Amino acid sequence: MAVQDWFDEARFGLFVHWGHYARSGWEASWPMVGGSVVLPEGQSMNVEIYHANARGWVPDMGAPERWVAAAAAAGMRYAVLTTRHHDGYSLWPSKFGEHGVSATAPGVDIVRAFVDACRKHGLKIGFYYSLSDWFHPDYPAYTDDMRPYILGKYAAATDAQWAAYQVYLRGQLTELLTEYGKIDLLWFDGGWERTAEQWDTPGLETMIRGLQPDIMINDRLPHCGDYITPEQFVPAEPPGCPWETCMTMNHSWGWNPADTHYKPVNSLIHTLCEVTGRGGNLLLNISPDGDGNISAPQLERLQAFGRWMAENGDSVRGTKPGLKPWQFYGPTSRRGKDVFCYLLMQPVAPVSVRGVKVRHVKRVVVQATGEELTFETRIPVLNEMLDIDGEGELLINVNSCDPVATVLRLEFDTEENA
Ligand code: GLC
Repeated sequence: MAVQDWFDEARFGLFVHWGHYARSGWEASWPMVGGSVVLPEGQSMNVEIYHANARGWVPDMGAPERWVAAAAAAGMRYAVLTTRHHDGYSLWPSKFGEHGVSATAPGVDIVRAFVDACRKHGLKIGFYYSLSDWFHPDYPAYTDDMRPYILGKYAAATDAQWAAYQVYLRGQLTELLTEYGKIDLLWFDGGWERTAEQWDTPGLETMIRGLQPDIMINDRLPHCGDYITPEQFVPAEPPGCPWETCMTMNHSWGWNPADTHYKPVNSLIHTLCEVTGRGGNLLLNISPDGDGNISAPQLERLQAFGRWMAENGDSVRGTKPGLKPWQFYGPTSRRGKDVFCYLLMQPVAPVSVRGVKVRHVKRVVVQATGEELTFETRIPVLNEMLDIDGEGELLINVNSCDPVATVLRLEFDTEENA
């Protein structure tokens, strides 16, 4: 698996689910196949009603600037937009097929506006693209008589249909990868409905890398991928390869005003700390409404990240996993001579960090404020005289805590001792 430096350093990115479904407060695509068990707040409706929702939608080209500005202020370093979800509606005027903004809003190109906003704010650019297309006649399209949607059971295309679909798929991907300059990441989805042979993964990958040699590709095109994409959870152990957790703020990917089950700010920021401690990235989703506006609870969360990241972002970006779990009660990361300990709870006693070379610790500092903390050391009796590094325990006196998460920076004398 190949990883680009920017991806390994970023740690935090924005996922945007936006399509005509947002107008009506519906989940992305899934309502048309009767919903999904993993989306408890989603709807179910017949196919025609779902697709009819696109009619007359004129998405606001000013919207991506609002999302990306909010992402940059939140401390995010990349953004991924649903250029086309499973429902087959494309957010750019594609010459391959009329199901998208070209039909409902001539002259509008949301992908263009998104790319421009990312470049303006210095964010890396990612395109989500669903391999499956529940609208395209050659895929073939999903129809009401195919309900219920059962994993592993899909309507098959004839050879001629599949060949036509390949032309369409490759045509759209070529547009996305040639008409918008350098694209940093391709976030496939929906690949589970066909095999690697059917997708012709090697052929597709060669084409993509030929067009964008430095692009990162996720793992949802079967048998392909520069990194893995755990969905809605943080792996218990560092997976041993590049990875990114994608996560919603509530239970929905698409805008749903009825879904008010938002994760608390602290829990979301703690997730970023845990992801950081295991060397991954967090791709946090927003679901703008039909007008492209970010709702108050979502904006509030981005702003809370912004406040916390402004003070602590240096302990997140560009770090590697830190200590072992037994050494500190919480996630940790490291960079050079510094070890960062994320204190996710208010301590009731001096904070303990174990199994570090205590004689090499120069200072312990609160990352956000620069406050230098006093600490004591303990070295096991038998080691006291023999161990010149003094491998033992630090007991740090923390005077005041950040209401979200306090980062303690342990400064060692050299990188080797840290
Ligand atoms: C799932 C869903 C899709 C969503 C994606 C995001 O694969 O099918 O709706 O966009 O997860 O990770």
